[in-house]
Amino acid sequence: MPNTTPTPVTVRLEDYTPPPYLIDTVHLDVDIRKEGAVVTATLKCLRNRMVPAGASLVLDGEELETLAVSLDGQQLAADAYRIAGSQLVIEHVPEQFTLQTQVRIQPDKNTQLSGFYRSKNGYFTQCEPQGFRRITWFIDRPDVMARYTVTLHAEKAVFPVLLANGNPVASGDEPDGRHFATWEDPFKKPSYLFAMVAGKLDVLRDTYRTYSGREVQLAIYVEPGKLDQCAHAMAALKKSMRWDEQRFGLECDLDHYMIVAVGDFNMGAMENKGLNIFNTKYVLARADVATDVDFENIDRVVAHEYFHNWTGNRVTCRDWFQLSLKEGLTVFRDQEFGADTHSRETARIREVRGLRAVQFPEDAGPMAHPVRPSIYVEINNFYTATVYEKGAEVVRMIQTLIGWRAFRKGMDLYFERHDGQAVTCDDFVAAMSAASGFDFTQFMTWYRQSGTPKVTACGAYDGAAKRYTLTLRQSCAPTPEQPEKAPYLIPVAVGLVGPDGTDLDLGGETTRILQLTEPEQTFVFENIPVAPVPSLLRNFSAPVVLDYSYSESDLAHLLAHDSDPFNRWEAGQRLFGQLILSNAARLARGEPQDWPTSVIEAARKVLNNGSDPAFIAEALTLPSEATLAEQMDVVDPEALHDARNGLLLMLASGLEGDFARLYARLAPSGAYRPDTAEAARRRLRNLCLAYLNEFDKRNYRALARQQFEGADNMTDQFAALSTLANVVGADGEKALADFYERWQNEALVVDKWLAVQAGSRLPDTLARVQSLTRHAAFDLKNPNKVYALLRTFGANHRYFHAADGSGYRFLGEQITALDPLNPQVAARLARCFDRWKKFDDGRQAHARAVLESLRRHTGLSSDVFEVVDKALG
Ligand code: TRP
Ligand code: ZN
Repeated sequence: MPNTTPTPVTVRLEDYTPPPYLIDTVHLDVDIRKEGAVVTATLKCLRNRMVPAGASLVLDGEELETLAVSLDGQQLAADAYRIAGSQLVIEHVPEQFTLQTQVRIQPDKNTQLSGFYRSKNGYFTQCEPQGFRRITWFIDRPDVMARYTVTLHAEKAVFPVLLANGNPVASGDEPDGRHFATWEDPFKKPSYLFAMVAGKLDVLRDTYRTYSGREVQLAIYVEPGKLDQCAHAMAALKKSMRWDEQRFGLECDLDHYMIVAVGDFNMGAMENKGLNIFNTKYVLARADVATDVDFENIDRVVAHEYFHNWTGNRVTCRDWFQLSLKEGLTVFRDQEFGADTHSRETARIREVRGLRAVQFPEDAGPMAHPVRPSIYVEINNFYTATVYEKGAEVVRMIQTLIGWRAFRKGMDLYFERHDGQAVTCDDFVAAMSAASGFDFTQFMTWYRQSGTPKVTACGAYDGAAKRYTLTLRQSCAPTPEQPEKAPYLIPVAVGLVGPDGTDLDLGGETTRILQLTEPEQTFVFENIPVAPVPSLLRNFSAPVVLDYSYSESDLAHLLAHDSDPFNRWEAGQRLFGQLILSNAARLARGEPQDWPTSVIEAARKVLNNGSDPAFIAEALTLPSEATLAEQMDVVDPEALHDARNGLLLMLASGLEGDFARLYARLAPSGAYRPDTAEAARRRLRNLCLAYLNEFDKRNYRALARQQFEGADNMTDQFAALSTLANVVGADGEKALADFYERWQNEALVVDKWLAVQAGSRLPDTLARVQSLTRHAAFDLKNPNKVYALLRTFGANHRYFHAADGSGYRFLGEQITALDPLNPQVAARLARCFDRWKKFDDGRQAHARAVLESLRRHTGLSSDVFEVVDKALG
């Protein structure tokens, strides 16, 4: 009988104690058979000298059928150890000993996709954060680092490829058509970085020569038949390796670097030492099946996992509260890589757009937690936008405060001090402090406190004294468990823009980094010859909400002239946001929409000022409903949706000629090329197409149809499909049907087809999504399908938050059905309910009913329970 899954317990950062025993080496023998896999683990253990002698040995295990346990070669009698729930306890062990356990596991029944599991073309692992205990008994925590040797056995014809971390050291045939392979990882690693694969896979091979001249064997393993979709990921891997050498002086330490793509995967990808396992979504790409955004995301995720080899693997986390130590830092690194390889300005804009759409709502909701959480029930629920994206912002602020050179010195020192160790966020900041002399004491608030700080700015110009004074106030609203907030150290990058649009001189610089440390502080700028418009928080120098009462003409001025591209974009977003919110309020009062024509002129200037097309497209993309909803006291999703669409139509009407001309002018001049400039051209052209189709005009529908039918690449084809799927009429239906007909055998393209329907603004969206859950293309067991259809619907602001509660009830049913199969993904879906308390009483009553019935559900996972229980508050 397998032992049980754990009963939920609350884990606290303050309770951390070092492990009483360490594991020096691990030998795993994994025998894969139809009846299950038998895992024999031989662990060389020793007492941790940092801890007093006498403690029991406690191992973690989940759903393991224990066949045998022996200590130093002696089979243990049943009373010499005990298995209680998810722990195996041995009371008296020597200072050093060899423990051997044998267990059987059932990978074919593992629908959680954590541990060892079956997917279409073989068996795969996912061990972060606590999957290794689902493979064998182990001290499954990241501060226990061991050297691993792994032997896999399986039927040769069905599973010809056998992989594990490190280097291949032996392989050969065995009786009955079976074979084996042994892999040895020379590096000590925590168990969460363990990986193994047994499957039938094709491989793309390449090599990379590091700057010190070592040759690394590269390999990407994919489902047979997909080799022609691997080239981009391979190129991304080599680019990342070069970039990390050049930018951070970090060289690949491996002889073999393998990436394996799998279609069933809970998240994006996993940085297992030398054997990354990736969601197919972040490997497979070819121009006809992947969009420009997909290509760029692949670059970023390949880089992210590769960068983990230093930030995460060589230096790892002491405990899971320190998750942002590796994730925030690695996201920062992949962001910088993206900025260097694509366009820095649009990269920053997209990061902030994402932060506002996901992290800000998280920080304002029931699941708010600090970048370094201090308490959790289910650690899987803390792989969040706060730990990842806000964590990256925190690292970026450190760089802003001390400058790039000191930051690089700090990174060098961090590796010098901690290579091979499992450390904390404090260790990282201490290295930065030692390298720069900067005092980060107050800065640590960013790791400790949840919530998005608000900075209120107020400026005054004294013409006689030629002096500009800027008063900044900071505050942070209470979050669950944190009623009081200490002031943050906030880097506020400020420029002053003159009436002619140029930056005023601030004593030899045009942007000054102010350090706001007090609740209220005044900063003085001398020798300012004219009244300026302040450009605040340039390049989004801190993850805060900035409040300054800009007039519409100030915003138009900044949108046209600010030398900081981020703030040029930001001015437009503010302008659009203010107008949408005031029109939503009008609609809610039953008044008609009212748009100033000046907004058209401001937008026309952006369209025609000769900027990078990618920037223009970003600047003319309106803030999302989810982002704007955060600024409303009580969200009226219908009024918000109608007002936002009202502005789209208003801009389309005012700029119809411009959009039509631009659409024609930006037509492709040759076959598809994936580069940044071409991607920018497509982005802007497709935005024009979408604006033009705000009108119900046959000629624009025809343009979209033509583009849909004639495109030689997925970017243009999918953009046309998306446009058509959001307008009433037969064109959309036909395009959707044709698209499915053509791409039904490409799983990742089918995901796009599901998502475009789930995110649609057409009124029958819920009914359509409901019927799609019964379509052959959908599969509740596959996370990509769940995310594409169900999570996209949960993010469809207008229809998920339908007044009659139908959206809430539908998602509640789906969560209930999914939870027993895959609690991690079910919990992610449950997060769609986070903001339910921002809505009116009627909607709240519907959401509460669904959440309460979920919480009452017998057998609910601790994953979903934690989310739902916090949501109910
Ligand atoms: N460490 C992975 C990354 O960010 C995240 C990850 C992959 C993960 N798979 C997971 C986290 C499963 C939790 C559960 O690169
Ligand atoms: Zn990561």
